[in-house]
Amino acid sequence: MLRAGERFAVIGNPIGHSRSPRIHALFAHGLGQSIDYVARLCPLGDFARDLERFRASGGIGANVTLPFKIDAYACATERSPRAQAAGAANFLHWHDSHWFCDNTDGAGLVRDIENNLGVALRGRSILLLGAGGAARGALLPILEREPAHLCVGNRTHATAQALIAPWREGHAIDALALDGHLSDGERFDIVINATSASLHGDLPLPATSDLFAPTALAYDMMYGREPTPFMRWASARGATRVSDGLGMLVEQAAESYRLWRGVQPETAPVIAQLRSELARG
Ligand code: ATR
Repeated sequence: MLRAGERFAVIGNPIGHSRSPRIHALFAHGLGQSIDYVARLCPLGDFARDLERFRASGGIGANVTLPFKIDAYACATERSPRAQAAGAANFLHWHDSHWFCDNTDGAGLVRDIENNLGVALRGRSILLLGAGGAARGALLPILEREPAHLCVGNRTHATAQALIAPWREGHAIDALALDGHLSDGERFDIVINATSASLHGDLPLPATSDLFAPTALAYDMMYGREPTPFMRWASARGATRVSDGLGMLVEQAAESYRLWRGVQPETAPVIAQLRSELARG
């Protein structure tokens, strides 16, 4: 139930494109609840003060998107292990007179792959492409599923090495330079694109094309009306299944809703609804 005056928002810059208000409205509708959730444009460099203004207006929960995920982490005085692992937060909750932050992106990714696409991560060989914020958010939730091997591939090898350094102990994890060659011809069951290469019209390609194990899944954190360039590239090179990141977007939002409201919304109808809205443009 909505308590009077409780407000929620997604905060970013730009923010006009955000589908989060629509997703949370659909969750609330499905649960017979109501929610006051809006898109909030925050001036660049002004996150902390804007969060104070939001709080003063009754704000108790926020999703945070680019470029403020590190600011959100810094503003919180209590941080979940997932947020600490990512060094960034996409979730804020005001309770006991302070901001608690979390990172629900990686959990959203794992839920979409395992629950919606039916592909277990446990015991699998996984290639995570990218070593920026998106990859950092995914690392701990992936490792918690106990894959047989997690390889982080990045254009800049040193960044991938720095990303995995804290996790080497006790995990089968290593780093790969994407201009190099994969060691001993390893094939991956799951290849996840967490780079921003497609924003620049590029592909985050390893030098080899022999990347995919039989029945492999190629997953792009990006989504769009059409299959992404990475999805098309993966299909042409032997990935049996490809998926974009629309399900991840909805699942990270569902995890946020659950943490704020204590109830898990149904995601399948919301993903289907968004998919059809996306197709209509
Ligand atoms: P985000 O927070 O979205 O992850 P980021 O921190 O800027 O964004 O990281 C972008 C990631 O995409 C990095 O891994 C980057 O590789 P580098 O570390 O080598 O910069 C990767 N990336 C961006 N453009 C790319 C391109 N054209 N080809 C391959 N990788 C690219």
